[in-house]
Amino acid sequence: MEDASRQAHWENVYTTKRETEVSWFQQSPAPSLELIVQAGAVSNSAIIDIGGGASRLVDHLIEQGFEDVSVLDLSGAALKAAKARLAARAERVHWIVADATTFEPAKSYDIWHDRAAFHFLTDEKDRTAYIERLTRGLKAGGHAIIATFALDGPEKCSGLPVARYDAASLALTLGPGFHLDHTQRHEHATPWGSHQVFQFTVFRREG
Ligand SMILES: C[S@@+](CC[C@H](N)C(=O)[O-])C[C@H]1O[C@@H](n2cnc3c(N)ncnc32)[C@H](O)[C@@H]1O
Repeated sequence: MEDASRQAHWENVYTTKRETEVSWFQQSPAPSLELIVQAGAVSNSAIIDIGGGASRLVDHLIEQGFEDVSVLDLSGAALKAAKARLAARAERVHWIVADATTFEPAKSYDIWHDRAAFHFLTDEKDRTAYIERLTRGLKAGGHAIIATFALDGPEKCSGLPVARYDAASLALTLGPGFHLDHTQRHEHATPWGSHQVFQFTVFRREG
């Protein structure tokens, strides 16, 4: 998918739907929070949520005392919605409007979290570009927590085709620079009560 149409798609989503009207809405991003803590994050760990959209993960991270949180998304409207919800607390967050496949990380992070963004990359060149950014943007010994639809999850998300993974296929896609630490399935209940199986997988960047 071309960068411009990808961005137009997501701007349209976040300007026409409320936070609770999208299938991926979670009141509490519990699996992500647990895995971030399990990965050893401490208050001054640099954490980035890639394709964070209007997710409430950032609210919970701030509440739990994490001091160096960044949220990156293609959609400015998504980040605007998250900032409006956080009000004054938004100033504690680094907001980055960028495409994860062209993003130039200004620093390296301890934790790279991605729930349901990587799986939209169905072209190999986009995946290669993302993994190149991930490799540069994650410290050696840092953790990447990547949640995609599982092999038996939906074939589309937000009307777009996705690539589905289990831990082995995701490890193969990321390549030998990433050590598979942990994987778990998670059944997400959409706001309208249907279920979607996600695969959350944690990798450590080899140093
Ligand atoms: C299904 S939503 C998930 C949002 C959030 N991670 C969550 O769990 O609630 C996918 C998000 O990824 C963003 N996105 C899609 N492709 C992207 C890309 N190439 N670079 C950055 N963000 C992207 C979209 O704008 C959208 O906010």
